[in-house]
Amino acid sequence: MVDLSSLPPLFVGTSHLGQVVRLPFVSSQPAFAYLDGLLELGLTAFDLAASYQAGGTERLFGEWMRARKNRERLFLSTKGGHPIPIVAPHRLGRAALEADLEASLRRLGTSWVELYFLHRDDQVTPLEEIARTLASFLRAGKIRAWGVSNWTHERLEALEEAGKAVGLPPALMTSPQYSLFAWKKTPWPGCTSITGDRAAQEFLTKRQLAVLAWSPLGGGYLKNPRGSVYDTPENLARRARLQAWADAHGTSIENALLAFLKASPFPVYPSVATRSLERMRANLLACQTPMDEEDARRIQAP
Ligand SMILES: NC(=O)c1ccc[n+]([C@@H]2O[C@H](COP(=O)([O-])OP(=O)(O)OC[C@H]3O[C@@H](n4cnc5c(N)ncnc54)[C@H](OP(=O)(O)O)[C@@H]3O)[C@@H](O)[C@H]2O)c1
Repeated sequence: MVDLSSLPPLFVGTSHLGQVVRLPFVSSQPAFAYLDGLLELGLTAFDLAASYQAGGTERLFGEWMRARKNRERLFLSTKGGHPIPIVAPHRLGRAALEADLEASLRRLGTSWVELYFLHRDDQVTPLEEIARTLASFLRAGKIRAWGVSNWTHERLEALEEAGKAVGLPPALMTSPQYSLFAWKKTPWPGCTSITGDRAAQEFLTKRQLAVLAWSPLGGGYLKNPRGSVYDTPENLARRARLQAWADAHGTSIENALLAFLKASPFPVYPSVATRSLERMRANLLACQTPMDEEDARRIQAP
């Protein structure tokens, strides 16, 4: 049984780590030093995916874990079943998921991951088949828990219902985009967000289902609010209220946003990416000091 209560309050976002092609003249030492620094901060939970850097992120982690012999200290979540545009748009069938999981375990150099996410919903593969595949991964000890990323809560419930017949336990986590700023349009096809989605948030609150929130800082929107998928007058107003809160509390707007997410009525683990250990230290502190609920309600008003 996986216990989330022993985890740090944020997961490390990893999609920028590693290289698509491992170039022999590029040393792994700076990346290893960065990962060592994260561990020193107590950050042991990582948000990986088979698709990140076309497997390069998992490969880097595998090399680091082998060099440091630290596998037992880590909570690894990874994802599979990501569609390959045009070539393979539906990749939740048993063969594709098995191939993805085996490749992830091989690159990571481990025989299990703590948490396995379905990276997208393909809306085509029968839910019974997906449930059976996940249940077999659990039985084989290759994954210790499962979750979905970019699935609606209705589809997650349907998958869990299908899972009852094959002994699949409920999902441990769901991983949609979640931030303060609602999208104008999805950044990639097949993504889902719970930002501003009242029905999804009510479901999560009732279930107290943990959320691994991706792009929690709006993927750079705070630095440059113009021209992104978040660029709307409503978001600019929210951004101004968040900035005022940050100023009043002597913190950065990024840290105020993490405190906002941590004040949600359901458990939230932001998947935070930064190239700076100093900024990660500040992010960790911010996740340990949630915003007052009343302030959070006021800041997110339309
Ligand atoms: N499941 C999915 O489908 C999915 C999709 C997208 C992303 N993800 C996950 O989510 C993770 C994070 O997503 P993301 O990279 O899009 O966005 P993000 O975490 O919302 O934002 C990252 C940006 O915030 C900056 N930043 C972080 N901490 C900061 C601080 N304290 N002060 C100022 N700037 C700060 C970083 O810049 P610096 O590096 O300069 O600090 C970086 O530009 C990814 O790595 C990945 O693991 C999952």
